[in-house]
Amino acid sequence: MTDSIDELREDALRALEEIRDDDALRVWRSQFLGRRGAVGKLFGAIGSMPQDERAAYGQGVNALQRELDAAYTEREALIQSQMLARDLEEGEIDISLPAHPQRRGGLHPATRTHREFQTIWADMGFQVYHSRDVEADDFNFTLLNLPPHHPARDMQDTFYTKDSRVLLRTHTSPGQIRAMREFGDGGTKPIRVILPGMCYRQEQVTARSEIQFTQVEGLAIGRNIRMSDLKGTIAEFAKRMYHPEAKVRFRASYFPFTEPSMEVDVECFLCGGEGCRVCKYTGWLEIAGSGMVHPTVLRNGGYDPNVWSGFAFGMGPERITMLKHGIQDIRYFWGNDLRFLQQF
Ligand code: PHE
Repeated sequence: MTDSIDELREDALRALEEIRDDDALRVWRSQFLGRRGAVGKLFGAIGSMPQDERAAYGQGVNALQRELDAAYTEREALIQSQMLARDLEEGEIDISLPAHPQRRGGLHPATRTHREFQTIWADMGFQVYHSRDVEADDFNFTLLNLPPHHPARDMQDTFYTKDSRVLLRTHTSPGQIRAMREFGDGGTKPIRVILPGMCYRQEQVTARSEIQFTQVEGLAIGRNIRMSDLKGTIAEFAKRMYHPEAKVRFRASYFPFTEPSMEVDVECFLCGGEGCRVCKYTGWLEIAGSGMVHPTVLRNGGYDPNVWSGFAFGMGPERITMLKHGIQDIRYFWGNDLRFLQQF
């Protein structure tokens, strides 16, 4: 029987060497290696062999199969490279054609602005702290001086989970409490953090408002922090972010978690304060809500408001990105439209 294994090997390899094209190669494969092929027949003969020769015989056929398989693969590669060479020579392949362009991915415009913010604040000594998106009602409201039924809760329409004590944060401010409790060491250490992240509000989606958007919260706690520190810090940020000569102005406002509270405007960076469509001819753009941390909030963070004070602010990067790139509709941000995203 080993005779027929050797014979078959010789026949098959000789036949393979003659082959010059794909079709013949396929015929060869089914003739020798196919299910009803010659090697298969040798396997089939095992049953009629004497018991003591079966093992050695089986191993021999197995080895033959592997050898023919390898020879086939090698021949196939050779034929393909010869065909390629022939096509090239006959001019069937035009190697001067430009290659398919490789598409490059890009960062989402909101991510870019976010990173720009982070870099500037980090340079100014603020740590980046990522607080959670799914929050307890207590942190989002109550501990920020918004007890249940407080009318100011209506300022932010909220997505609740099935459990009405758990919600999607409506602003990044709950991170203030978490940062104070985590880094304040029981109200004994100063803090300087920014808290960037996604916020959610149950709102009518329009060109100006979305149910999700990002905010960058800032918080500084120390022994002698005053309103002048808040003003100086934000003015410095505006210079680094918008323009070395950027002017800012503060308008009295109201937030339950800061007292006093202020809205921050920056001189319109598109018209330089002359007045244009973007700033609605006022010369100013609103960039943040801010204020001195309310004593109740300090206490909830573990600090004694008689000794410690601080400032906080919240900024909306999307609005700034929209102004910068002249994006008219906030829905583009999370609409996943490639035609929009590929412009960045
Ligand atoms: N959390 C406020 C908002 O979403 C912004 C803010 C943050 C105001 C910190 C004051 C201090 O509108």
